[in-house]
Amino acid sequence: MKSEKNHLWGGRFNEPTDEFVKIFGASIAFDKILALYDIQGSIAHATMLSEIDVLSSSELNEILKGLTKIKDEIVNDQFNWSIDLEDVHMNIESRLIEICGESGKKIHTGRSRNDQVATDIRLYLRDQVLLINNELERLLTALLDLADQEKETIMPGFTHLQAAQPISFGHHLLAYFEMFKRDRERLYDGFKRINTMPLGSAALAGTSYPINRDRTAELLGFERISLNSIDAVSDRDFAIEFVSSASLIMMHLSRFSEEIILWSSSQFDFISLPDSFSTGSSIMPQKKNPDVPELVRGKTGRVTGNLISLLTLMKSQPLAYNKDNQEDKEPLFDSVDTIFNCLHVFADMVPMIKSNKDNMYQSALKGFTTATDLADYLVKKGLAFRDAHDIVGKAVSYGIKENKDLNEFSLDELKSFNKLIEKDVFDVISLEGSINARDHLGGTSIKQVSKAIKAGRKLIK
Ligand code: ARG
Repeated sequence: MKSEKNHLWGGRFNEPTDEFVKIFGASIAFDKILALYDIQGSIAHATMLSEIDVLSSSELNEILKGLTKIKDEIVNDQFNWSIDLEDVHMNIESRLIEICGESGKKIHTGRSRNDQVATDIRLYLRDQVLLINNELERLLTALLDLADQEKETIMPGFTHLQAAQPISFGHHLLAYFEMFKRDRERLYDGFKRINTMPLGSAALAGTSYPINRDRTAELLGFERISLNSIDAVSDRDFAIEFVSSASLIMMHLSRFSEEIILWSSSQFDFISLPDSFSTGSSIMPQKKNPDVPELVRGKTGRVTGNLISLLTLMKSQPLAYNKDNQEDKEPLFDSVDTIFNCLHVFADMVPMIKSNKDNMYQSALKGFTTATDLADYLVKKGLAFRDAHDIVGKAVSYGIKENKDLNEFSLDELKSFNKLIEKDVFDVISLEGSINARDHLGGTSIKQVSKAIKAGRKLIK
C-alpha cells in the first residue's frame, strides 16, 4: 500500500514515503507526551510573532483558539494521533491547519521542528525535575525522621561486610541522607542548564524575521536564552546531565536497597519491612520477600543503560541537528519515570521500616567491634598505636579461642595482655562507650547524630 505525500513537507517529493519507512521514522508513539509543552511553546511563539507584526491580531486569536481546542482534545483523549504525521509537532500543526485554515499555516513562521523539539524537551524536563525533587525531599525527610527515632539504636558498622565498629543506626541512615543531599544539589545545578531556551534558533542558523527571543523566553518562563543557534538545536548535554544525576540517585538507591534486603533477611534480622511493601511466595508459605528494594536495585541498570545510550547517541554526531536525536526521547522519558517511581516508593516505605533493636545490639557485640577502642585506650595510657594494635590483636586471638568477646573478658584476663589496663577500660570497650567516644563533627556519637539531624532539618524545610 502506498501512502500519500506528506502535506507539511512533501512539496519537493515526487513519491510518497515507503510505508515501512514511515513507521520506522515515526516518533509519535513516544513523543506525544510532549504535546502540552509543544502547545505551550506554540502559544508563546505565536504571541511573539504577533507582537512583531508577523501575525495579525486576528490570526493570533484564531491560532490561540485552535491551540486551546487541540489541548482540550488531547486532555480528553479525543485527539486523533496519526502515524502519517510522524511526530507530535506535525500532528499538532496539521490539526491546527485543519481547525484554522490559513492562519494555522502561519504558526511555523520563523521556527523549525529542530528548535521546537529542543524547546519541548526542556519544558518537559523542567517540570519533571521539580516533581522528582519533591520525591527526593520526601525521602530526605523520611530519612531524618527515621534517623531521629533510631539515633540511640546500636548496630555493627561494617567494612568488607565484616563487623567493624559499633555505630548508631541513625548515623548509618544519615549516610544515605548525605548521598541524596548531594543528588539534590546536582539536580538543582543541572536545572539552570535545562532552563535555557533554544527557540528562535530555527533549523540551525536562526531566522530572518525580527524575532524577540527575550519575549518568548519570558512567556515560557525560561531563565536564559541559548547563545548559539547551531549549538542550541544539537545540544542534548542537559538531558545527559539529568540522566547522569538520575543514575547516581539510582546507584545510591541500589546500595540502600541492598542493605535493606540484607537487613530484613532472617540471618541478619535487623529490620522488618511492612507487609504492604512485601510479597509472598506461591510455594514457600514462610516467605516474605523484599520486592520493592529488589526491584529498585534492578531498575538501576535501566537508568545506567539510558545514560550510556544517550552518551553514545551524541558521540561523533556532526553539527547541527540529525535525526539521530529523535532517539534521545525514550531513554530520557524512561529515566524520568523510573527515578520518579523509585523515589516515590522509597519515600513511602522508609517511614515504615521497623528496627529490631535487640538483635542489632546483640550483633554489634559479636566480632570484637570495640577492639579499636581498646587499642586507643592503651595509646591514651602511653603506648604507641602499633604496639597497642599488636596487643589487642593477641587479645582477639585469645577471644576467638575462648569464644568470648572483649567486653566479656574479666579484668584479670584483660590485664594479662597489658598491665596498664584498669577497671575504667569497661567504659571504653562497651558499645555505648565506643559510640559516644566518637564525638566530633561527622562522628557516630548520639550527640553528633542529633546535631546532624538538626542541620538536615534546616536544609530540607
Ligand atoms: N521528531 C523529531 C525529533 O524528535 C523532531 C525534529 C525533526 N526535525 C527534522 N529536521 N526532521 O527529533
